[in-house]
Formats: sequence, C-alpha cells, structure tokens
Amino acid sequence: MTSRGERAGGMAGEGEGSEREASRTATSRGERPGFLDTKRVAEFWDDARKSADEDKQSGYLQDEWPTALGMNRFAGEWKLVASWLDRYAVPRGACLDVGCGVGIWLEELAQRFERADGIDLSAEMVASTAKRLAHLPNVQVSVQGVNDLPADRRYDFIFVGGVLMYVNDELVEGVIAKLASMLNPGGLVVFRESTANGQTWYRDTPLQPGLFADRTKPRPPYFAIYRTPDSYPQLIAKQSLVLVRTQPNKLYKLADVTETWLKLIDKLTLGRLARRRDSAERAARWLHALRYLTLVPHYYLVWLFARRSWRLNNYWYVCARRSDGSSSTAVR
Ligand SMILES: C[S@@+](CC[C@H](N)C(=O)[O-])C[C@H]1O[C@@H](n2cnc3c(N)ncnc32)[C@H](O)[C@@H]1O
Repeated sequence: MTSRGERAGGMAGEGEGSEREASRTATSRGERPGFLDTKRVAEFWDDARKSADEDKQSGYLQDEWPTALGMNRFAGEWKLVASWLDRYAVPRGACLDVGCGVGIWLEELAQRFERADGIDLSAEMVASTAKRLAHLPNVQVSVQGVNDLPADRRYDFIFVGGVLMYVNDELVEGVIAKLASMLNPGGLVVFRESTANGQTWYRDTPLQPGLFADRTKPRPPYFAIYRTPDSYPQLIAKQSLVLVRTQPNKLYKLADVTETWLKLIDKLTLGRLARRRDSAERAARWLHALRYLTLVPHYYLVWLFARRSWRLNNYWYVCARRSDGSSSTAVR
C-alpha cells in the first residue's frame, strides 16, 4: 500500500468563473453557497481520528460509543454493498473509496478489486489507513478532497459514504458529474448519505454527546448539509447515470436505536455502561445478537407510528452508468 500525503488545497477543476456562476444558481434555489469551510471539515475529522483508539479502527467517532456498535453497522452495510457488486456484475478492476476515513471499506474492497484507491480530506484519517493497510499492495490512499480528484481517472466501482453532506451546494452537482464521468462502462457508484426530513438542514451545532463523552469538555461545532432524500435523485438524474436502486439505510437507523437502548440500560444500571467500556461492548453485542427481539421491532414501531420524529435519516443511492450518455431516472 502506498500513500500520497499532500493535502490538496483550493478547488481544482473548478475555475473561479464557473464557481461564481454555480454560486449564483445555488442562491437562486434558496441554498447557502459557501456554508461549509473545507479546512474546518478537515480539522473536525483530524480531531475525530486523533481522539479515537487507533487500534480498534471500528469506524469514526468511536471513542464515544462501543466499537461493536460501529462494527455491526459496518458489517451489515458491507454485506449489502457486496450483494450489489454481485447482482450488477461489477467488473473487478479498479475501485475508489471517496472519504475513506479509517479505511474499513478499503480493507474489504481490496479483497474484491485488483486496485483499491482511497481519498480523504483528513490527513490523520489517511495516515491511519496507510499504516493499518500497509500490508495490502493493491491499496493506495491519498489526502485529497473530492473536488480535487483528477478527472482522467477511471473506476469500475466508486463508493461515496457520508461525504456529499460536506460538499457545498454550489459544488455538489459538479462533484456528482465528475464521479459519473470517472465510471467505466458496467461500473457502479454507490452514495450513502445522511438526509433531513422536510427541508435541508444546514447544521452548525455540535453532535450529541455519546455514552463515553466527557460532558465537562466543550463540544466542537459540527457543520454539515443534510439535504432532503429526493434532492440526490434529482442531482443524479442530471448526469450520465441511472439510479438503479434507492432505499433508506436501515443499518444507520438500527445503530441509532442501539444507542437509545444503551442509554436506557446505562440509566437503569446507574451509569455502569458509561463507566465500564467492557460492559458497554457486551451490551452492544447482546442487543445486536437479539436484534429481532430488541432493535428490529423498535425500528419498525417508530417507522410505522413516529417516523416524523426522525429528523435525520440515511439513504442509499445506487447508480450505474448510462450507456447512451443521456439522463433519466429509473428505480427498481
Ligand atoms: C462520515 S465519515 C465516513 C467515513 C467512511 N466513508 C464510512 O462510510 O465509514 C466522512 C469522511 O469523509 C471525509 N470527507 C469529508 N469531506 C470530504 C471531501 N470533500 N473530500 C474527501 N473526503 C471528505 C472526512 O474526512 C471523513 O473521513
């Protein structure tokens, strides 16, 4: 595995004129151009990486929740994505993980593809992935923003997990267009994005503290754009992509539901889970093992009767390249 450790600045591939034009169009749609500061996003994820236990590598922000919770979510998500790779017979040449974080996706992708590239805005994330996946010769990871990707690269599979929410309104369409243009015939691009119900939420408030959070410390601000679930299909339809599948990410919600149970058990045991990580890990594992009694009924009860109480959701958008280069949407 090799890494390129340079943080790319600016917005390569986006000339100043086209950025100004995109910004004017975004404003006319009631959007908020320039809401996100790329440097601040990178710093947030650098800090998140530094504050977590590097050995466990279960995901991100893992210092505040049991590792098992992140791993259960990831294992379910990977199973789903792997099933799409088979179902849509994706060629196994080169793949790209955009916003690769700690590299848990890359580690799996490297087993399936001849070459697995990862990019991330956070130098800390990239350094940690480079170190942990050093034994995989077909993995290459670099510090790079999705806006700065060179347009001449080609991939059979592109995974974009939780990244468009950190891309400003005036750039997001261009980013999707660039990713679409990088896809080989027969290839697939999978977006997994957090969304807001009702209307776009331009978030600038800290994340809720997790089970192990130090509540005496001030929480860093957190900036993200949670767009509505149907805004992405609209953006995708403008590209040379066909949306072959879109669905809510149940694994994301099951992780939310697990958090609720862990907080409840913590209260009932007078703070034992927050004090003892091993107990919290055990509880998370048990809740998952018994999920058809615990998490799944809870999920469906909320889904049926109180879905509106979920301000946030998370969706999968699975897209194939249109062979004729035109654009339209077909969901199945
Ligand atoms: C929510 S985490 C998701 C990590 C991983 N994709 C996953 O699914 O577990 C978002 C990651 O995207 C990275 N990121 C945010 N904005 C980015 C951008 N514009 N270009 C590349 N990476 C970005 C962050 O540094 C962070 O590692």
